[in-house]
Amino acid sequence: MGYARDDWSQHYAGGRDFRRLGDEEKALLTEHVPAPDNGRALEVCCGTGELAAYLASLGYTVDAADFADGALERAGTEHAEAEGVRWLCLDIEHDDLGDLDEDGYDLITIRLAIAFIHDRAHVLRTLAARLREDGTLVVITPIAGHTPQERRHIALDEDELAALTDGFIKAERFDTESLAVLLLG
Ligand SMILES: C[S@@+](CC[C@H](N)C(=O)[O-])C[C@H]1O[C@@H](n2cnc3c(N)ncnc32)[C@H](O)[C@@H]1O
Repeated sequence: MGYARDDWSQHYAGGRDFRRLGDEEKALLTEHVPAPDNGRALEVCCGTGELAAYLASLGYTVDAADFADGALERAGTEHAEAEGVRWLCLDIEHDDLGDLDEDGYDLITIRLAIAFIHDRAHVLRTLAARLREDGTLVVITPIAGHTPQERRHIALDEDELAALTDGFIKAERFDTESLAVLLLG
């Protein structure tokens, strides 16, 4: 598949998905970023919304954003029962982020998507600026060393992973199967 906005949309409209949220990922989130009272989360590049719905189940009020209409249509239908989730059509690299909660977020997540972002440092800085005090930015991404060569473009190598942590005071990493889970703050 291609990776333009329409390509993503058609992928979802065709009923296809990506790697499901794993039990180890869920356990890491539950342990390291439990929802505080009145916790708010932003899940960017949310796809069909599995992680957004999971965060809602942990007690977060969630803004979930993706730029693919085909993803958001399915997310709204497949997670219609998820309480406290707002679905937003947003290009995280190019759009004005004025629709996001001006009070900020305790948790911001981006899963299986950072490899497709062109200016990663800029996007991570922009997102980090939306964190509340003691908030955490979680990046979940395939690791190049555990990814077949033909799918290298969906993953980050060790230098690319290290670059994501630039400018953050807190940077923890947990590896689960072939994914790196970075906790930044
Ligand atoms: C591989 S999918 C992962 C979807 C979801 N996070 C998951 O874990 O299943 C990457 C997602 O990033 C979205 N995406 C890519 N670039 C984006 C951008 N600049 N702004 C918003 N969404 C973007 C795509 O539409 C797609 O839904």
